[in-house]
Amino acid sequence: MAIERTFSIIKPDATARNLTGAINALIEQSGLRIIAQRRVRITRAQAETFYAVHRARPFFGELVDFMISGPVVVQVLEGENAIAKYRDIMGATDPAKAAAGTIRKVHANSIGENSVHGSDAADTAANEIASFLPETTSSAKASCGGVRGFGASQPALRACRLIGY
Ligand code: CMP
Repeated sequence: MAIERTFSIIKPDATARNLTGAINALIEQSGLRIIAQRRVRITRAQAETFYAVHRARPFFGELVDFMISGPVVVQVLEGENAIAKYRDIMGATDPAKAAAGTIRKVHANSIGENSVHGSDAADTAANEIASFLPETTSSAKASCGGVRGFGASQPALRACRLIGY
């Protein structure tokens, strides 16, 4: 089984109820490692792009409004089979249909306010990580390797140290 990375969002309904730590505990108990995370407010444009595949669905406007209604925590999770494993521990999109013990069964309010998002495939995981936590990608790592060369600017060196490269 391959070591993979997946992208996660702890959504506004969960941050509003102070559930970041409880959700992170479930993630870590599953064996997945949280290798990066940041609490942010996403913009309407970011939310519309992120959920563009759902643009024609009747709930699209409501979904975008909800995702910008409060802070979210964007995360990179790493582990064996991380994409499928995270979808397993999130549970079904509708918490009423989610299996016992899953994040959505335990914490989600409704199908719309369902506490977490996880990538559904390797290509979407890579795109979502590059959009929200680009400093974790191999291209960021490579450019920091270059920055360390003689004559690099202090701000560039500081930025690379801050992200652990
Ligand atoms: P997520 O995994 O982030 O991907 C798409 C999101 O659309 C999904 O979680 C839900 O939050 C939301 N969604 C899906 N179906 C509905 C629905 N019927 N009504 C409202 N929101 C929905």
